[in-house]
Amino acid sequence: MVRAPNCGSSLNFSTNFRYVRLKLGDVTPVLRKMSVASTKLLDLLNQAIARELQVSIQYMWQHVQRKGVEHYTVSEDFKKIAIVEMKHAEKIAERLWYLGGKPTIQPGQIFVGSNLEEMVDFDVKAELEAINMYKEIIELAAKEGDVATKEIFEEIEAEEEEHHDFFTSLFEK
Ligand SMILES: [Fe+2]
Ligand SMILES: [Fe+2]
Repeated sequence: MVRAPNCGSSLNFSTNFRYVRLKLGDVTPVLRKMSVASTKLLDLLNQAIARELQVSIQYMWQHVQRKGVEHYTVSEDFKKIAIVEMKHAEKIAERLWYLGGKPTIQPGQIFVGSNLEEMVDFDVKAELEAINMYKEIIELAAKEGDVATKEIFEEIEAEEEEHHDFFTSLFEK
């Protein structure tokens, strides 16, 4: 329990947070105007969240469902990348929430695969799709003058390229 400033009553954290959001909406509309984004950009951010949730589960289950010596050698890498993807989902969701959108709780379609080669094929495809989508978001955010969203996605896109490099190098001789 915390005491909200200047309101004289005890509130829990979530109530206190709602209080702050309502005050921003009611009293300082100019502040809210600063975070206006197009519907297209908000939709793309939500598609990006669905994608991050998808690969986070996809890679973690690929980590769990390991079999064979080859798979054992990379299983921990699947887990590490899965955690990075979850952090991407969090970062994008925070940005979408700030811009006035509501983050989806639905992951995109998950493809785990039944052997290492099949798993890696799905993962290379997922990373490529992410790279293309995030380039589109970077371009649109720049067009709309949304510097923070652009920079967030530049950082994430660079990490997706690292993942793509990792997955594509697995079967190189
Ligand atoms: Fe990601
Ligand atoms: Fe990735």
